[in-house]
Amino acid sequence: MKILMVTPELVPLVKVGGLADVVGALSKSLSLLGHEVRIVLPKYAGLRRVEDAQPMKDPLIVHLGGHEAYARIWNCTLPDSDVVCHLLEHNQLYDSPSVYRGPSGDEADNAQRFTFLSRAAIDLCYQTEWIPDVVHCHDWPTGLVPLYLNTTEADRPMGQAASLLTLHNVQHQGWFHRNVVDYSGLPQHVFRPDGLESMGQANFLKGGIYHSTKITTVSPTYAAEIQVADGGHGLHNLLHNRSADLVGVINGVDTDEWDPARDELLPARFSADNLSGKQICKARLQEAFGLEVAPEIPLFTVVSRLVEQKGLDLLVAISDRLMSEMSIQIAVLGTGEAALEEAFTALSQRYRGRFGSFIGFDNELAHLAAAGADSLLMPSRFEPCGLSQLYAMLYGAPPVVRATGGLVDTVENYSESHSTGTGFTFTDPSPEALFDTIGWACSTYYDRPGDFQQLQQNGMRKDFSWALSAGTYESIYEQAMLSRAAAFVGQKKV
Ligand code: ADP
Ligand code: GLC
Repeated sequence: MKILMVTPELVPLVKVGGLADVVGALSKSLSLLGHEVRIVLPKYAGLRRVEDAQPMKDPLIVHLGGHEAYARIWNCTLPDSDVVCHLLEHNQLYDSPSVYRGPSGDEADNAQRFTFLSRAAIDLCYQTEWIPDVVHCHDWPTGLVPLYLNTTEADRPMGQAASLLTLHNVQHQGWFHRNVVDYSGLPQHVFRPDGLESMGQANFLKGGIYHSTKITTVSPTYAAEIQVADGGHGLHNLLHNRSADLVGVINGVDTDEWDPARDELLPARFSADNLSGKQICKARLQEAFGLEVAPEIPLFTVVSRLVEQKGLDLLVAISDRLMSEMSIQIAVLGTGEAALEEAFTALSQRYRGRFGSFIGFDNELAHLAAAGADSLLMPSRFEPCGLSQLYAMLYGAPPVVRATGGLVDTVENYSESHSTGTGFTFTDPSPEALFDTIGWACSTYYDRPGDFQQLQQNGMRKDFSWALSAGTYESIYEQAMLSRAAAFVGQKKV
C-alpha cells in the first residue's frame, strides 16, 4: 500500500507529546511490513536539524481559496528506515519554534497554519505524481484533509484515496472563525452542523470525523469513553453515530529507542534477568534532581506535560502529606501550565533532597527518569493511551496510574494474593485515592520486596512493540480502501 501520513509532530524531528512518537514508530513499522510510507510535516523553525534534507527543485504550489501560495519542500528519510519525509517550509506560517503556538492550540493563525498543511499535503501528491491509497491523518491539525478528499478532490485522483483519522486526544479540536472556509478553498457547504460547523465556528476535528473513511483512537477503552458525554468533549453523539467505523488500537513502543538493555542514553543498561544496572541509573537520577543518593528509598517520578488532563494537581495537593508521612523521594520532569510548574518548583525548594523538579523538555532525562525510577506516577483524569507508563513498565518502574483510557488497557493491577500485575491502579480521581495508592506501592516496596521485583519483571517482559498494532492498522487501511472503492461505485464519497 501507499500510505501518506500527515502530521503536526514527528519523532525524531519535533515532539510535544506522544503523537510524535506514534507517527514515527508506526511509519517505520509499516515500512518494514513492505508498505510505501511518506510523511508530510511543517518545517517549523524549531525542527531538529536534518543533515540529509534536500530541497525539491520546484516550489510547491498550494491551491487555497481564491489564491495560490508557495512552499518549499525539503526531502529526507526517517532515520533507520525507508520512510520518506517531506518537510513543508513556509516562512510566515512556520517561523515559530513552537508547534501549536500558545497553550490552547487555538491561536488565530493556527487556522491558516494547519489548513495550509492539509492542502499542501494533497497538492504535493499531484506534484510528485504519487497518489496514496490511504491518507492517515492525526488529530485536529489535519482534520481538513478528509474534507478536501470528499469535495475539491472528489473527481480527481486524490479523491479515490481513503482517509483515516486517528484521534490522539479529543479534548483539542481546533476551533476557528468560520472565515477559514474562504481561506481553505473548501466549498461553503462543508460549513454545516453535519460537517465542519459547531456553534457558529469551524471545528476541524468534528469536520474530520464526519468526513474520514475510518476513524481510530489509541486504545479500546478510550474508544468507548469518547462515545459518552463525560469523555467525548461534546463530540460523543457524533462519535457514537460513527461507531461502526471507529476502532481503538493501542499504541506500541519503538524498541529501537526505548529498550533498557540497549539504551545508549543511560549510564548503565539492564534487563529483567539482570536489574543491577538500574541502581546505577537510580543514583544518577537522584544526582540529576538534587536528591539524596539513597538506594534504599523508593523514588517516584513524573514525566509529563503539566496540564489538567494529567491530574498532577492531585499530586500537588498531597505532596506535603507524602513528604511528612512516607519515606519516599519524588522527581518531576515536565513543562506546561504555570501554576503546576510553580507548585513543583516550590515543593522542590521546600523539600530539598527529597523532592526534585526539572521544568523543561529533555529527552535524555525522560529516559533516565524511567530507568532510575522505582515507580512512575500517572494520575491522569483521562488518558487516550499514554506512552510514559509503557516506558516505565519496560524500564522496571511499576507505575501508579488512574484506571482510565489506555491506562486500563495497558497496566495490570497488582494482586497481593497472586503476586501478579504490572502496576498499581486506582479509580477515584481524588487526592486521597492517589495518596493511598502511592502508600500501597510504597509498602509493597518496603514490606514485600519479592513481590515488587516480580511486578518489575512482569512489566519488563511484556511485549509492547509495534508489531501487533501495525498489523491492525494494516487491516484497517485495507477496510478503508474497500469502503472508499464501494463509496465510489455508489457515488457517495464519504
Ligand atoms: P501525551 O502525549 O498526552 O503527552 P504520552 O504519555 O502519550 O502523553 O506521551 C508523552 C511523551 O512525551 C512520552 O514520550 C514522554 O516521555 C514525553 N515527555 C513528556 N514530558 C516530557 C519532558 N518534559 N521531557 C521529555 N519528554 C517528555
Ligand atoms: C495524546 C494522548 C496520549 C497518547 C498520545 C499518543 O497526546 O494524550 O494519551 O498516548 O496522544 O497517541
